[in-house]
Amino acid sequence: MSKAIQIRGLRYRYPDGTQALNGIDFHLDAGESVALFGANGSGKTTFVMHLNGLLRGEGSIEVCSMPLSDETLEQIRSKVGVVFQDSDEQLFMPTVLEDVAFGPLNLGLSPDDALTRARTVLKRVGMAHALERAPYHLSAGEKKRVAIAGVLAMDPEILVLDEPTTFLDPPTRRDLLTLLRSLPQAKVVVTHDANLARALTTRAVFFDQGRIAGEGDVIELIQRFHWEYS
Ligand SMILES: Nc1ncnc2c1ncn2[C@@H]1O[C@H](COP(=O)(O)OP(=O)(O)O)[C@@H](O)[C@H]1O
Ligand SMILES: [Mg+2]
Repeated sequence: MSKAIQIRGLRYRYPDGTQALNGIDFHLDAGESVALFGANGSGKTTFVMHLNGLLRGEGSIEVCSMPLSDETLEQIRSKVGVVFQDSDEQLFMPTVLEDVAFGPLNLGLSPDDALTRARTVLKRVGMAHALERAPYHLSAGEKKRVAIAGVLAMDPEILVLDEPTTFLDPPTRRDLLTLLRSLPQAKVVVTHDANLARALTTRAVFFDQGRIAGEGDVIELIQRFHWEYS
């Protein structure tokens, strides 16, 4: 099967000397969805930031068969949409519509086409009623939807979600899960939520101190690492 992501020997050390990734081998098949588990500080977010080149460590990263390099960075960023844990890091324009149109404008679409695309994806995530709202004033669940719309507007092949349900109450979490299930993209989902992982993914990878300590079928891995709230 063709690989959407292929990573070999990824290592990353922060400028202060913290060795956050210690040799990660990872793959994502085309159309597949994978959960990333692991304790706080085990390297999941650092790993995710490599998937679209926000951080550049040692080792090799290929996305849709393209090696990540300065030359391919822009193309890879349009294929891999990363939704961060904290939506406030992702939303920065005065209105929801402008925020979501920002990416397509940067891709070189005309203002009309960018706005049309932004309206389409905002409708897709159930936020068509809030086009002129200030992102800053939205609820946590609404912010998450707008952040997802922002990456969908780039028409990515792979969606990466870093703890998407962290700040959400149970009904908002269920609604988000329904939305995520309806999106056809391959997904990499960082989560502590076993229910979310079972509903969205088939395979899981367990991070421990910057290494992958285990991987396999998502249900089997949850049992093996006792990765469920009790
Ligand atoms: N900006 C940073 N500077 C230095 N160390 C960092 C930074 N961000 C994260 N770390 C460290 O890198 C390790 C991995 O962190 P992180 O990738 O955020 O883990 P996780 O997402 O699994 O909680 C931790 O030891 C964390 O303290
Ligand atoms: Mg994290």
